Amino acid sequence: MRQRCALFLWTTLVILVLLSLSVDAGRSYHNIPRRALRSSNIPKTQYGVKIVIDTPNQVVLDNGLVQLTFYNPGGDIAGITYNGIENLLENMDRNRGYWDVMWRGALYGLQGTEFKIITEREDQVEVSFINTYNASIPSDSTIPLTVDKRYIMQRGRSGFYAYAIFQRDEGWPELAMNQIRLVFKLQQDKFHYMAVSDTRKRFMPTAEDRNNGKQLAYPEAVLLSNATSNPILAGEVDDKYQYSMEDKDSKVHGWICTDPSVGFWMITPSTEFRIGGPIKQDLTSHVGPTTMSVFSSSHYSSRQLGLIFQQGEAWKKVFGPVFVYLNLAGPNSDPTTTLWTNAKEQMLEEVKNWPYNFTQSQDFPASDQRGLVFGHLQVNDQYINDSSLVRASSAYVGLAAPGDIGSWQTESKGYQFWTRADNNGYFVIEHVRPGNYSLYAWVPGIVGDYKYEAEITIKPGSRIRLDNLSYEPPRSGPTLWEIGIPDRSAAEFYIPEPYPTLMNKFDNNNHSDDSDKFRQYGLWARYGELYPDHDLIYTVGVNSYRNDWFYAQVTRNIGNNTYVGTTWQIQFEVRRNMTTSGGDYTLRLALASAEYAELQVRFNEQIMGPPLFSTRLIGEDNAIARHGIHGLYWLFNVNVPSTLLREGNNTLYLTQSRGGNTFRGVMYDYIRLEGPPWQ
Ligand SMILES: *[C@@H]1O[C@H](CO)[C@@H](O)[C@H](O)[C@H]1NC(C)=O
Ligand SMILES: *[C@@H]1O[C@H](CO)[C@@H](O)[C@H](O)[C@H]1NC(C)=O
Ligand SMILES: *[C@@H]1O[C@H](CO)[C@@H](O)[C@H](O)[C@H]1NC(C)=O
Ligand SMILES: *[C@@H]1O[C@H](CO)[C@@H](O)[C@H](O)[C@H]1NC(C)=O
Ligand SMILES: *[C@@H]1O[C@H](CO)[C@@H](O)[C@H](O)[C@H]1NC(C)=O
Ligand SMILES: *[C@@H]1O[C@H](CO)[C@@H](O)[C@H](O)[C@H]1NC(C)=O
Ligand SMILES: *[C@@H]1O[C@H](CO)[C@@H](O)[C@H](O)[C@H]1NC(C)=O
Ligand SMILES: *[C@@H]1O[C@H](CO)[C@@H](O)[C@H](O)[C@H]1NC(C)=O
Ligand SMILES: *[C@@H]1O[C@H](CO)[C@@H](O)[C@H](O)[C@H]1NC(C)=O
Ligand SMILES: *[C@@H]1O[C@H](CO)[C@@H](O)[C@H](O)[C@H]1NC(C)=O
Repeated sequence: MRQRCALFLWTTLVILVLLSLSVDAGRSYHNIPRRALRSSNIPKTQYGVKIVIDTPNQVVLDNGLVQLTFYNPGGDIAGITYNGIENLLENMDRNRGYWDVMWRGALYGLQGTEFKIITEREDQVEVSFINTYNASIPSDSTIPLTVDKRYIMQRGRSGFYAYAIFQRDEGWPELAMNQIRLVFKLQQDKFHYMAVSDTRKRFMPTAEDRNNGKQLAYPEAVLLSNATSNPILAGEVDDKYQYSMEDKDSKVHGWICTDPSVGFWMITPSTEFRIGGPIKQDLTSHVGPTTMSVFSSSHYSSRQLGLIFQQGEAWKKVFGPVFVYLNLAGPNSDPTTTLWTNAKEQMLEEVKNWPYNFTQSQDFPASDQRGLVFGHLQVNDQYINDSSLVRASSAYVGLAAPGDIGSWQTESKGYQFWTRADNNGYFVIEHVRPGNYSLYAWVPGIVGDYKYEAEITIKPGSRIRLDNLSYEPPRSGPTLWEIGIPDRSAAEFYIPEPYPTLMNKFDNNNHSDDSDKFRQYGLWARYGELYPDHDLIYTVGVNSYRNDWFYAQVTRNIGNNTYVGTTWQIQFEVRRNMTTSGGDYTLRLALASAEYAELQVRFNEQIMGPPLFSTRLIGEDNAIARHGIHGLYWLFNVNVPSTLLREGNNTLYLTQSRGGNTFRGVMYDYIRLEGPPWQ
């Protein structure tokens, strides 16, 4: 008995010693060796870049300006030393600078198993932390994916580049993952000011303020009822989704420490490795303080964007490079202004240098290995102009994996290259990786999606000219009336005033601009207040969509926690003498978002019976709850027999039939009724 007890104690002791050793290993960045002992007459910006491996479980990159400490061989970032701050990252054992994915419903850290030096020169160092999946060692806990995480540090550059090559070979098991991120968690005591855009930059609540607050309708939204860090924030709402951004605009965001003045910025110079097209929205920075690059997610879209691979399906994709930029401000400037302005300038510099010419991976082609497509797109709609083509002004034109019209919005495995055409519809798509693509486009102000009929093959050095492309949008007759602007967003509709008790004062009370109003918490609940007795009724020619069309057709709260669908009415007049034939009418119904919704269409007496048309259950983009003014785009074309309409006043009933909770519903993009075709 005593022996067994002793054995038990002995085993416990061994375990404790092992545990404390592993904790030490995790924390040893505190002992980052002093290596600033360099010749003091050389400016730091001219120091050569060094790789220091003093301890077996750490690797340090040092260019005199920044020291970057990695766990070896996992490749997570343990420390970033800059401007006298020993570590910009939060003091925790792990998970301060890391790549992860969502796999089997949980976050899965991508850990390297092997460290390699790729380049070691005075002017540039590139290192790799790779895990190599081995299909002949079946394991239930290992993701069937090889990930090569690369980091680059250059002489004189205050920051570092990060990218990762994801690969699957033939014969590997199936894989479904739906989120790929590079995440940094910064020191809570230092970083208090966040900037994601000119209109969203502010002193932020702390994680503790959130913890002391009151959760609202979902965990991400918190009322800061007890903001001890900064009492002025008390009564505001914080929700990380209020800081989401369309990928095309999400090129620089991050955090500022004011003492000493240090900025930490995520710069994403290209959208080529992002998914779902240029207006896909994703998270940026948020309370933590956290800064991320979200390479792939189903936010504001659909699970279709998840990366799902069949058994044996091979795949390779390079995510990044992104640039983590660090800056500092002079003693006599306001760091919040200076550092944000400087970060935006650096972003432009990175964009100008794209595609980078210094990455060493064979899988990242340099600019001379890429191709170019240019051309001219016009719109052919005789009901807009029957004598000539219409300019495709500012059209979005892009190359993405070959597929159906509009398929780019749920495409995630390949690369996408998007540009905006000029005012006359001329476009240039540069820096395209070799491969096969379809060319897609849409034109703000014009309904629907364009796809060029032929597949496009890009080879190194390709210059492909596509003259006189003509987009024939869906159209069968003259516009009798229209509501909204066909631009895939509900931003032009009526966005109610936020609740004063549930505000996020995005720009520390600079209210000179309404462009972020739709990001306020709780707007959906205004519907029931505006329409207490009956649902929205819109009369063509009397009402204006800017003032009278609520931005989302949400459910109605009828008490007792019960939410029901609603029926909106559009009243309009038909004068038969305005049309020259007795043909059918057409309803164009473009949605900017749908969340577990079903939209039914009825005209006049049909209100009593089955609908003329139903979308059936559609959508899971959750844009109402997450303050997006759009999610995925849907276009429905409904044939309306002329017998359903009558001379004089008519009513179109739009029923969103699915109740259940507050966040179900649709956002409209644009509605148009077309008369019978001209003869
Ligand atoms: C995969 O594992 C098998 C079995 O352990 C080993 O024989 C083989 O060399 C490994 N392959 C690679 C590429 O490491
Ligand atoms: C506010 O937070 C502080 C710090 O956590 C706590 O001591 C205090 O009790 C809280 N007050 C309320 C009213 O919750
Ligand atoms: C790489 O690109 C940079 C920035 O565009 C340029 O200054 C430099 O000369 C290029 N280097 C090479 C080797 O092409
Ligand atoms: C149609 O296009 C022609 C040529 O661009 C232009 O002169 C004319 O004003 C347009 N007509 C309408 C109705 O917009
Ligand atoms: C591109 O398409 C061509 C013709 O269909 C085909 O031969 C080629 O293998 C494709 N290339 C790639 C990279 O898929
Ligand atoms: C394209 O359109 C322009 C102007 O309409 C015309 O001059 C030119 O010949 C067309 N090019 C082709 C290849 O059709
Ligand atoms: C307030 O916002 C407007 C519009 O974005 C901007 O022009 C102005 O400079 C801002 N004012 C301050 C004091 O930041
Ligand atoms: C409210 O809901 C509860 C539970 O669903 C139900 O038992 C109760 O009868 C409802 N009350 C009213 C007034 O509808
Ligand atoms: C069409 O009918 C309306 C009355 O219903 C009348 O006011 C209008 O002048 C007519 N228009 C034409 C072109 O006949
Ligand atoms: C048609 O609707 C308009 C606007 O609501 C209204 O003024 C008019 O009286 C209605 N006409 C008929 C015949 O009901």
